[in-house]
Formats: sequence, C-alpha cells, structure tokens
Amino acid sequence: MQLDPERIPAHVAIVMDGNGRWAKQRGLPRLAGHRAGMDALKEIVKKADQMGIRHLTVYAFSTENWKRSAEEVSGIFRLLILYVDSELAELHRNNVRVSILGRWRELPAAPVKKLEKALETTKNNSGLQFHIALNYGGRDEILRAARSLSGQPPEEITEERFSAALDTAGIPDPDLLIRTSGELRLSNYLLWQCAYSEFVFTDTLWPDFSPACLEQAVLEYQGRERRFGGRKQ
Ligand code: FPP
Repeated sequence: MQLDPERIPAHVAIVMDGNGRWAKQRGLPRLAGHRAGMDALKEIVKKADQMGIRHLTVYAFSTENWKRSAEEVSGIFRLLILYVDSELAELHRNNVRVSILGRWRELPAAPVKKLEKALETTKNNSGLQFHIALNYGGRDEILRAARSLSGQPPEEITEERFSAALDTAGIPDPDLLIRTSGELRLSNYLLWQCAYSEFVFTDTLWPDFSPACLEQAVLEYQGRERRFGGRKQ
C-alpha cells in the first residue's frame, strides 16, 4: 500500500508515550528515555514536514506531569532547552513555525526564555506549524476558555467562538491522533479538538517511533472512513 499524497492529514497530534519503559528495558534512568524521545521527535518533525503535514502537535508536558520527581521534571525542561539550542536554526531554515499550547509561561524562567526565542525566530515562517503542548491539560484549556467568555451573552457563545478562545485558535482540529506505547487513553489531551479525530494506537515505545512508523500511521488513517457523525455516502 502506498500513501495517497492527496489525503495527507492536515493536522497530526501525538502523545509521545513510553520513554520511561524504553529506558527501563535497557536498565537506564528515565531521563535517558526522554533524551531518546527527544531524538525521535527531531526525526518526526522533519518527516512530517516532508510528508506535507501542515500542523504537528506533540504532548511534551502535561499539567499532571508535575507529580513526577523534581529530578525528572527539571530534566525534561533541560531537554527542552537542548532541543531549541540544537534544532532552532534548522527549523527556521526549513520554514517551520513553532507555537506552544498550555500554560507554558508558568514554567521556570530558563525554558520560557528559550521558547520565547523559538517563537520570535520562527513567527513569520509559513511551512509546517509545529505546536508543543507544555504544561498543557485539555480540561484546564477548556476552563480558561470558558472563563474568558464568561462575560458574554450566552447565545453569543457559539462553537466557533469557543474554539477561538482555546490555545489552538486558528488551528484546524487534528485529523489523526497517534499514541505510542500501547496505552489506549487520551490523558487530557486536546479534549475539545479531538471530537472527530481518527485514533491510531501503536505498541511502539516513543523513542522507537521512526519516520516509517509515522508513514504507517498515516496509511492506517487513509484506510479509515470519516463520517463526522453523518451517514456513509
Ligand atoms: C511520556 O513517556 C513522555 C513524557 C511525559 C515527556 C515527553 C518528552 C520528550 C519526548 C522529550 C523532550 C520534549 C521536547 C519537546 C524536546 P513516559 O515517561 O510517561 O513513559 P512511561 O509511560 O513508559 O513511563
């Protein structure tokens, strides 16, 4: 089976799960798994761009991830800084625009500063839009949107206006959601936006998720029939 270039999903969202188990299988510390996960992400961003995917959204840190050890949390933030340091020039060269979803400004100052640089550098780029969900939770996002609209007349709060009040304003809903590592959950990711997304779950652990795995997931997506609640044509 070949990929149909006419039906590449416009927006692919990924839950990058399984870094810890990947490390454990090798007798390595959890952070080594996140490091390998970061390397996998670098390749996936390039592949998504080459495939003509317009929006790629990855779940890098959830509002629940603060429950992890301080060492793991600060390690993930360090990796984020390392990622921007090592990739920003190439992302910019490839016309990729970086954006961040979630309450990322509440992160420590060093990663916030680095992310601001990535946003500023790539703000006028028109290629792949790469969205990083950081200190993100779907319920938190929906609550923030509801609060921001609370002064408005109820009948004026339409689906469109609600969508425009979310962190994903202006971004089309994900066509395809991928979760790695065999877990079959949404885990508070893009709850509003995934109403009609196709889900592809794979047992592959995130650090092993290669560009070929992304192609395979898109192929599976292309085999689905999307009806958006309507009937078969
Ligand atoms: C889930 O695996 C992964 C995370 C919570 C963090 C994701 C972080 C990265 C891929 C690296 C850095 C990110 C960027 C944007 C540079 P897990 O730890 O829950 O794995 P487990 O379920 O096997 O324990």
